[in-house]
Amino acid sequence: MKGHSHRRLYAIYLLLFTTTFTFLFSSCSTKEKKRFVIGVSQCSEDVWREKLNEELRIAALYYNNVKLDIKSANDDVKMQTQQIDAFVNEDVDLLIVAPGQVSISPAIDRAYEKGIPVIIFDRRTRSDKYTAYIGADNRKIGSDMGRFLASAGVSDVVELCGLSSSSPAIERADGFESIANGQNKINLVKKLYADWTEKGAYHVVDSMLSATPPHFTCIFAHNDRMAVGARKACQKHGLDISRIRFCGIDAMPEEGGGMQLISEGKLFASYTYPTRGDEVMQLAMNILTGKKYERENLLASALVTHENASVLLMQYDETVRQQSRLATLRSRVDKAASDFQTQRVYLIILVSFLILLIVACALAVNAYRTKALINRKLKEAVKRQEQLTKEIEDMTQRRLQFFTNVSHELRTPLTLIAGPTEQLLEDPTVKAPHRSMLEMIHRNTHLLLQLVGEILDLRKVQTNKAELVLNRFDLQKALTLWSEDFRTIAIRRKLTITVDTSTVKEEPIIIADRDKISHVFFNLMSNALKYTPKGGSINISLAYTNHTYTIKVSDTGKGVAKEELPRLFERFYQARGAEGGTGIGLSIVKAFVELHKGEVHGESEEGKGLTIVVSLPDSQPGYDPAKDVEKEKPTAEAGLIDDNYVTTSISAKESAERITNAEDFDHDRPLVLIIDDNEGMRSYLHSILKQKYNISEAANGKEGLEKARREVPKLVVCDVMMPVMDGLEFTRQLKADTATCHIPVILLTARSLTEQREEGYGTGADSYLTKPFSGSVLLARIDNLLRSRSMLRSIFSGSTEEKEEEKSLNTLDQTFIGRLREVMQKNMGDSEYSVERLGADVGLSRVQLYRKVKALTGQTPVELLRKARLEKAKKLLLKTERSVAEIAYEVGFTSPSYFNKCFKDEFGMSPGESR
Ligand code: FRU
Repeated sequence: MKGHSHRRLYAIYLLLFTTTFTFLFSSCSTKEKKRFVIGVSQCSEDVWREKLNEELRIAALYYNNVKLDIKSANDDVKMQTQQIDAFVNEDVDLLIVAPGQVSISPAIDRAYEKGIPVIIFDRRTRSDKYTAYIGADNRKIGSDMGRFLASAGVSDVVELCGLSSSSPAIERADGFESIANGQNKINLVKKLYADWTEKGAYHVVDSMLSATPPHFTCIFAHNDRMAVGARKACQKHGLDISRIRFCGIDAMPEEGGGMQLISEGKLFASYTYPTRGDEVMQLAMNILTGKKYERENLLASALVTHENASVLLMQYDETVRQQSRLATLRSRVDKAASDFQTQRVYLIILVSFLILLIVACALAVNAYRTKALINRKLKEAVKRQEQLTKEIEDMTQRRLQFFTNVSHELRTPLTLIAGPTEQLLEDPTVKAPHRSMLEMIHRNTHLLLQLVGEILDLRKVQTNKAELVLNRFDLQKALTLWSEDFRTIAIRRKLTITVDTSTVKEEPIIIADRDKISHVFFNLMSNALKYTPKGGSINISLAYTNHTYTIKVSDTGKGVAKEELPRLFERFYQARGAEGGTGIGLSIVKAFVELHKGEVHGESEEGKGLTIVVSLPDSQPGYDPAKDVEKEKPTAEAGLIDDNYVTTSISAKESAERITNAEDFDHDRPLVLIIDDNEGMRSYLHSILKQKYNISEAANGKEGLEKARREVPKLVVCDVMMPVMDGLEFTRQLKADTATCHIPVILLTARSLTEQREEGYGTGADSYLTKPFSGSVLLARIDNLLRSRSMLRSIFSGSTEEKEEEKSLNTLDQTFIGRLREVMQKNMGDSEYSVERLGADVGLSRVQLYRKVKALTGQTPVELLRKARLEKAKKLLLKTERSVAEIAYEVGFTSPSYFNKCFKDEFGMSPGESR
C-alpha cells in the first residue's frame, strides 16, 4: 500500500518535470524556418539601381530567413555572365537578374536549367527561360511619351536612346516610333544612342551639335540622367534651352531626381519608371515558398509633367514621412517584442525553478517522513532486541547460577566419595576385582571434581570474583616440569612432546598466579592431547620479547577451520567435531590469561593442526614477596592425567586388545558387544558383564558396526551419544543388514525423555536403559532378551506351529529363513554340498552364517542341513516304494549305514521301522 502511493507520487513528479521542460524548450525555441539565399545580379550602378537595391534589402529584412547577395556588373556583359555563373555554383536558392544586354541569356539559361528559379526584372533577354518577369511596360512608356509630345504641339524631336542592345532602349524606341510614324505631327529628326549615363548623353549631343545639327525643338532621352546631359550639351553650344523641351524617363522623386527637375522647369516631362524592390522580393518569396505567383508582372507607371510634379513630390514627401514614422513605430514594436521575449524567458525560468523547488520540497518531506518511520521502527526493533537480550542474559545468568549452585552441591558428596575410596585403596587387603572397581570410582570422582572446579573457576572470573595470587617463578622450569606430567600418557599414546625454550636467553622469571598459569597450561595440553592422533607430536615453545612471554602449544591434529578460530575460546563452544569435552577448558584459558592482562588466540591451517598462542606480561602489579608462598602442587592432580581425562576415542584395536588378552574368554559363553566412546564406561560395563559373557568393545557406532558384522555377537549394549556414528544410526544400520538384523540391541543413554525413547525404539532397538543404571538391572535385561529370543524349532516340517514361529521374526529374518530353506532343499541331494557353499548362496560369511543360524534355530548350519535331509528321507520312505539305500543316496548321504544311524538319532527309530 505504502509502496504504491510512493510510486504514484514519483509518477506525478516525473510528469511535472516533463511538462515543465517541454514548456520551457518549446517556448524558448522559435520554429526553425528554412533559410534562403537569393543572388541579385545588377547590370550597372546608378541612383535608380541603388534605390532598388536598398528596397530589396529592406524587404528582405521582413523575412528573417533570407540572405541577399547583390552583385553589380557595371554594364560589363562578360562580368555579369561570370557573376551569374558564380551564383549558380554557390547553389543560391533563387536568382534575380537585371540583364545588361539581351545577349546575356545563355548564363541565365544555365541557371534556369539547373533548377534555380530565375526572376528577370527591369530588362529582358531573348530567351524565355525564366521563372517570372517583373518590370514596367517600356513599349507603353515610349508610346505614351510620343502621344503626350504630340498633344503638347512638339514637332521636331531628337530621340536619345539608351544602350542599343538593352531591351528598355529597344522597347521604348519602338513605342515612340509607333507614334511618330503614325498620324501625329511628330517629326523624329534624329535618333541617337548613349549608354544610359549623363556623360554619355552629353558627348553624343555635343557631337551632334558640333557637326551639322538638324532643327529640333525637343530632345526625348530614354532616362532623366541622359536628358540632363543633353541639356548641358545644348547649353554649351549656346542654344536657347528655354525653347527646347527636354524629356526623360524615371521621374525619381528624390533630391535631384526627375520630378524635382520638372518642377524646376529644367525638364519638360518624364515618366515614372518604378523600382518596387518590395514587390520583387514578394515575388521571390512566393516562388521560394511555393505560393501562387504570376509569370509576367507589369508595374504601374505614369507620365509626370509640370502639372502633377509638385503634387507627386508632396505625396512622396508625405510617404517618406509616413515611412519614417512607421520605421520608428516598428523599431518600438521590435523593442517591445524583444522585451516581451526576454521577460517570457525569465518567467519560464522562474516558473521552472518554482516547480523544481516544489518537487524538491515534496521529495524532501517524503524522504523525511520515510526516514522518521524507519527510525521509529528501528528504535522499536532495537528496544525489542535489548529486551530480548536482557531476558536471555537473565536466563543465562540464572542457568549459570544454577550450575554454580549444583556444582557447589556436588562438591561435598563427591569429596565424601573420593575420601573413603582413597582410604579403601590404601588398604592392601582389597584385592582385584574390587581394587580395579575402586580405582575406577576414584578416577571418575576426581574427574567430576575437576569439572566442578572448572565451572566454579569460570563463574568466579565471570562475576569478577577471581583474584590473582601472585608468585615469582621461573616459567621455563615450570613449563618443563608441568609437561613432564604428560609424559606417561604421551608414551602410551605414542606421541612426542617437545619443549623449546631456546630463544629465551636469561632466566625467564615471571610474576603471575602460578596455579592459574599451570591450569592454563594443563588445559592447553589436554586440548592438544585430545586431538593429536597416535604417532603425532605436541610442541611447546616459550619466547620473550618486550616484557612479554609467549607460550605456544601446537598439535598435529586435524586443525580448526578459519571461521571457527575466533569462537574457540567461547564458553561451551566445541570446535573440531568436538569429540567429547565440555567446551569449558579453553574458555578458562582465556579467562585466566586475560586476568593476567595477557592475550590468547589460535592459529590453524585445517588438516595441519592447531597452535594456541598465549602472551603474558612478565610482571603483575601488587606483587608482595612476603605473601609468595612456595606451594608448587603436582600439576593438575597429576594422577588424573590419563586417557579418561583427555577423553579420546580409543581405536578398535586398542579395545580389542583387552578382549584378546582377557584370560577369561570362554567359548561357551555368548558374545556381547559393548559400544561406548567413554573408556571408563566400557571398562565399567566390561566388569559387570565379564562373568557371564564374552565381551567385545568398540568406541563408536562405526567401529561397532564393523565388529558386529565380523563377530556377529549375541547381543549389543550401545551408548546413544557418540562421535563418528551415534547409537541410533548404528542400530538402524545393524537392523538393515541380513547378517546382523537378528541381534538384539540395548541402548544406553542419559536421555530419558519419552520422545527420545521412541526415537530409540524407532531404529529397531530392543531395549532402552537410562543412565545411571545398576549392573544387576543390565544383566537381567540382557538375560531376558536372550531368553525371550524366539527360537525356530524346525524349518522343514511345514507344520502350522513352524509357520507361527516364523511370523515372530522380523521381515528380514523371515526372508532369510525362506531363502535358506529353498537353497537347502534344492541342494540336499548333492552330498558334496558344503556349509561354505550354503553361506555363499545366502550371501553370508562362514562365521556370520554359523552365528546367525545358531541364534535363530539353536542349531548349526551342518545340523540343519542334516535335519533337512532326514525330514525329506522320512517323507520319501512313507510316500514311495524306493529302497532305504536309494532314499539315503537321494537325500545326499554317501553311506546307507550312516544314514540309518542319523535317522535313528533324529527320529528314535530306524528307517525300516518308520516305514
Ligand atoms: C537605370 C536605368 C534607368 C532606366 C533603366 C532602363 O540603370 O538606366 O535610368 O530607366 O535603367 O533599364
